[in-house]
Amino acid sequence: MSKYTLHINGKAHAMEVEPDTPLLWALRDSLGMVGTKYGCGLGQCGACTVHLDGTPTRSCLVPVSAVGKQKVTTIEGLDAHARHPLQQAWQELDVPQCGYCQAGQIMTACALLKQHPKPTDAQIDEAMAGNLCRCATYMRIRKGIHRAAAIAANGKDKK
Ligand code: FES
Ligand code: FES
Repeated sequence: MSKYTLHINGKAHAMEVEPDTPLLWALRDSLGMVGTKYGCGLGQCGACTVHLDGTPTRSCLVPVSAVGKQKVTTIEGLDAHARHPLQQAWQELDVPQCGYCQAGQIMTACALLKQHPKPTDAQIDEAMAGNLCRCATYMRIRKGIHRAAAIAANGKDKK
């Protein structure tokens, strides 16, 4: 076992785990942050997506020992009141079905909106291609991203 301090959602979190423990396990089992989901454990479904220094990353594939000083953002850290434009849009349009994949979907969509504040359908499809949804909510996810872009743009106009 080794000691690590990870910077997650703006706070330092100390833990003692094996160096090859996946970040996903550390989040869920060591810290009780269960918003990030375990789907495949193989980097193939996107359910475990978090941001490392703003880049969407499969947390099931990243050992804790490789995180270092990178800032980890999970779904719990997206917005203090769960009112991020994506979360507002997801509620408004009832995007989730079972919900299992949706934290990963939102984290990937969040990175997309930072890069492309008004994404086209093609940009959405490309960015979201690695996030699988067994309930096939893909059309609602696409709509939700467009709606979140509009909510974000509207918020900026008001400032
Ligand atoms: S659980 Fe990490 S990609 Fe599926
Ligand atoms: S909403 Fe069920 S897996 Fe996506």
